[in-house]
Amino acid sequence: MPVELYRDASHTCLMFTDLIDGDAQAVQSNQFLIVDNGSGAIIDPGGNLAFNELFMGLSRHFTPQNLSYLFASHADPDIIASLDRWMTSTPAKLVISRVWERFVPHFTKVGKTDNRIIGVPDQGGKLPLGRNELWVLPAHFLHSEGNFHFYDPVSRILFTGDLGVSMTSGQRAQTPVTRLADQLPLMEGFHKRYMVSNKVLRLWVQMARKLDISMLVPQHGAPITGPAIAEFFEWAENLYCGVDLFDERNYQLPSARLIA
Ligand SMILES: [Fe+2]
Ligand SMILES: [Fe+2]
Repeated sequence: MPVELYRDASHTCLMFTDLIDGDAQAVQSNQFLIVDNGSGAIIDPGGNLAFNELFMGLSRHFTPQNLSYLFASHADPDIIASLDRWMTSTPAKLVISRVWERFVPHFTKVGKTDNRIIGVPDQGGKLPLGRNELWVLPAHFLHSEGNFHFYDPVSRILFTGDLGVSMTSGQRAQTPVTRLADQLPLMEGFHKRYMVSNKVLRLWVQMARKLDISMLVPQHGAPITGPAIAEFFEWAENLYCGVDLFDERNYQLPSARLIA
């Protein structure tokens, strides 16, 4: 069952947390459906493991033929590997960074993405959805070179892709975190290795603080809300990660054998 992040008479945000929980080899991930006045968008639809369940799940809330967009924060397999099936089963357009626009057709059969990709320039922008709009905000290098977050001004949710994630189960991902300290052990290792640098984290925090945010909702693990939002900003702008931590020790010729 999806978690209802927001609902009013004309606008709904749903989060699916446990579509691939049965597969212990694949990292837990969240998929999102936003519906405004009968038009829908999916954020980070996921890979082939999630497709069937997500398609059936969203059909309960929404007509797939009214799906306007697939928003992809970046081009990783857990974000968009199911693209071929979405392009076949719905009329939706893919919204993704221009950095990835010519790479994602490799996920589909020939011609499936023709005239169906909205390539977003680095500065982002706004797109109409129903009677409202969704904002596409720059989050480059957090972690991907061409990376966007999505802000819904109606629910005031900022969907942050791989930023703010925690490594946990689909069940635990359903309960929002209000005290960041409780969640940090599940967050720290991932951010130190997958986020690119403290410089970009600080630039992102500076931008994000200008938004009126009810919830930060990442693509893995639990949403961040209440006091934990400001705590996350403070933690992120002080975090050293990625290239900050790498030095010559990380670039030595290998000696270990990978299989016996
Ligand atoms: Fe990723
Ligand atoms: Fe991810």
